[in-house]
Amino acid sequence: MHTINSEKMHQPTYKNSRQKDFIQIAQQLLGDLVFDSSDAILAGGDALDLIKKIPDNSISLILTDPPYHSTKKKNIKNDTSFDTDKAFLDWINQFIIEWKRVLKPNGSIYFFCSSKMSGRIEGLFMESFNILGNIVWSKPNEPGFDGWKQKMKKEALRQWYPHSERIVFAEPSYEGNIFKVWFANVIKENRIKCGLNMKELTEITGDYGKVNHGGAVSNWEAGRNLPNREQYRKICEGLIATGKIDSMPFYEDIFRPFNVNSDIEFTDVWDFYSVRPYKGKHPAEKPLNMLEHCIVSSSYEGDIVLDCFAGSGSTAIAALKTNRKSISFELDEKWINAIENRLEKFEKNQIDLSQLNNSQAIMKLTKTEAQVQVSSNGKHQPTLF
Ligand SMILES: C[S@@+](CC[C@H](N)C(=O)[O-])C[C@H]1O[C@@H](n2cnc3c(N)ncnc32)[C@H](O)[C@@H]1O
Repeated sequence: MHTINSEKMHQPTYKNSRQKDFIQIAQQLLGDLVFDSSDAILAGGDALDLIKKIPDNSISLILTDPPYHSTKKKNIKNDTSFDTDKAFLDWINQFIIEWKRVLKPNGSIYFFCSSKMSGRIEGLFMESFNILGNIVWSKPNEPGFDGWKQKMKKEALRQWYPHSERIVFAEPSYEGNIFKVWFANVIKENRIKCGLNMKELTEITGDYGKVNHGGAVSNWEAGRNLPNREQYRKICEGLIATGKIDSMPFYEDIFRPFNVNSDIEFTDVWDFYSVRPYKGKHPAEKPLNMLEHCIVSSSYEGDIVLDCFAGSGSTAIAALKTNRKSISFELDEKWINAIENRLEKFEKNQIDLSQLNNSQAIMKLTKTEAQVQVSSNGKHQPTLF
């Protein structure tokens, strides 16, 4: 486990540990790489083979959108390959086992599926994950654009027309028990190792409960609420000061991030516009802003985001735009090429932008220098600007 020690406690070095994990993953996938840069990897092939090469506990967020099976789209690989629902679910279950293995204990997964399959998918996840939500994506059309739903014959329907999609949101369960929480266990195990009782740790952090003297610590150890960063810093300092341990994990390695506020979608009904048709659109392309929403809500900057069914590569772009690292797998040659082009273009733009920023910085510096010159001799006007 990557750790902090008492001197380095305030440095955001968890990012270095993500960087190391990323390099290791790239090395494991070397023979399958189609594109790789310091922040993005694209590997071509069957995701079930590829994911087996990813080391344990190295991924912070999985965002994944497999073939739905129920939609029977011939233009999506593996959407029509499974003769029975059971065969499809058995296939997904093999991924779930791998996802649990590669995710960090404080990681999260968003799994896109149809409303018809979501109940059974959740059932599979429940073996090794805690289900935190079943998000309904209502898929509205942009104003002024009529999807084909308006054109179909309503009288021919035999059930409610399934216009929404589902996103199963889950975290790895700890010791197969929904009431056991990873971070709570880390605090408790280390407190016991240091020979402190809950009351003594409370004394150190100063977080007295209103009713119970060891209140805050017992709530943390039960996973009922989270210490904030300052409280966690005090816990680490207090435990390390006993001399019985020399390090504690980074905050970003034990607490599952979840960042929402009243300005963004915080309920489990999402109204992101679906992607309008355009030349070269992937048949199941998800809106970039919805993917960014998942990533910003459920990961820290620098974290590694995995998409096993990358399609158009939108997850990778969303991850890069939000300063995360991205790993994409895709089987279909056509989409592998499309993602490669998209990543190349995106990274080239980034470089162009940073060069632009650099030249702006140089221009600013020159202006400042020029101003200094002007003020020192009081005569010359700066030639720049
Ligand atoms: C539902 S689409 C994903 C769309 C994507 N989320 C987007 O926004 O563009 C599923 C993708 O998984 C790919 N796929 C199917 N089976 C696969 C496999 N075994 N390994 C890797 N990719 C696979 C398909 O080619 C397809 O592009």
